[in-house]
Amino acid sequence: MSKLWGGRFSQSPEEWVDEFNASISFDQNLVMEDLEGSVAHVTMLGECGILEPSEVKQILTGLSVLKEKAQKGELSYSVQNEDIHLNLEHFLIQEIGQVGGKLHTGRSRNDQVATDMHLYLKNRVIEIIELVRAVQQAIVKQADAHVETIAPGYTHLQRAQPVSFAHHMMAYFWMLERDVQRFDDSLKRIDVSPLGAGALAGTTFPINRKRSAELLGFSDIYENSMDAVSDRDFIVEFLSNASMTIMHLSRFSEELIIWSSQEFQFIELADAFSTGSSIMPQKKNPDMAELVRGKTGRVFGHLVSMLTVLKGLPLAYNKDMQEDKEGMFDTVHTLMGSLKIFAGMINTMKVKKDQLEKAVNEDFSNATELADYLASKGMPFREAHEVVGKLVLACINQGIYLKDLPLSEMTDASSLIEEDIYQVLEPAQAVKRRESEGGTGFEQVRNQLKKAESIMKEQVRL
Ligand code: ARG
Repeated sequence: MSKLWGGRFSQSPEEWVDEFNASISFDQNLVMEDLEGSVAHVTMLGECGILEPSEVKQILTGLSVLKEKAQKGELSYSVQNEDIHLNLEHFLIQEIGQVGGKLHTGRSRNDQVATDMHLYLKNRVIEIIELVRAVQQAIVKQADAHVETIAPGYTHLQRAQPVSFAHHMMAYFWMLERDVQRFDDSLKRIDVSPLGAGALAGTTFPINRKRSAELLGFSDIYENSMDAVSDRDFIVEFLSNASMTIMHLSRFSEELIIWSSQEFQFIELADAFSTGSSIMPQKKNPDMAELVRGKTGRVFGHLVSMLTVLKGLPLAYNKDMQEDKEGMFDTVHTLMGSLKIFAGMINTMKVKKDQLEKAVNEDFSNATELADYLASKGMPFREAHEVVGKLVLACINQGIYLKDLPLSEMTDASSLIEEDIYQVLEPAQAVKRRESEGGTGFEQVRNQLKKAESIMKEQVRL
């Protein structure tokens, strides 16, 4: 089989060399984008009088036949034709004859592949934003049901202060909201057309780049043809945004895993999102959460790998850039899968309210309440901290909690303490009273929920 670029060559590479060179095994993922780009390009060539109307018509007919075949999975790609661009051009010429060879007028694979990637990522990012929104929706649903469910709040994974379970959930809502904003902002840079940049220097044909951009639904075109064909920033940015999002999911996974352990028993994941053990009949494992946590590694890897591919590249296109695809496809696949799993997992998890409340009643997470109580009665906070620290130690020695101390023992420590202290030590009171903006007080949490609901009604940019 002769190569589409074979004119200058007297010897064909051996098949194993072709295989190393080829990207068709993975860039066939771009078949629809590549056809779409070709339709816009040839339409523009016709409008600009570069191709005859009859030629444009034949090429468009050929491209629509290829589209149909692609949808039915009837195209059999070959490694000899290297990549999706050359494979499709080859099929087109087979389909409509030599006129098919006119499609590539005023275009190069360099601007063609960049166009495909922009088209692909634009659609995927919009879908990803929708999937993040679905996870946020599930979080809001759980939070809404658990504003007054009191849970231990941690720092250093040590019991710190009691919080509303909804408050804990909503922390993830806001993390994911920043992710949505980042993806949304990145669309500005994805939504730009490189088509018409040619190999690197533009073309001598009187093309209309704005027109092909418009036909493809791009908002803008690259200002510089060399930048257009060698820019992969939008992919790095995507991988970085994806890394941030999956890092958030991974942290959330870690909590779900801990919370569903025998030691915590704060939640129970639905059977549909858990698996059993092949040997231990009692086991119910949080595999989905563990997998999301585990898959985070490969997404970070793709980011570092892309940055590394680009760091030494001179302008403009270099074949190294063919390495931009597999990591991007895998990241899209991994992130979309993880987000789908997460929405389902959060939606269906059971929050064990009683266990959470039992937990907060059996710890010292109300110690700050006592210190704040003394401070509000005029004792310097540092001194109050010391007094309460000693009372905590006394409790530990007796195997009891602060609320079990007799009043006399507390008044011995400070005469500022009165009978009302037992009320102050209630975990629910501790939560309720934290009404500083963004705090865990019930009213504050309800405010967050209101804001979250109105944010989710807003449309993303595109
Ligand atoms: N398969 C190539 C890639 O993915 C397409 C561009 C090839 N351009 C070239 N001049 N060899 O990067």
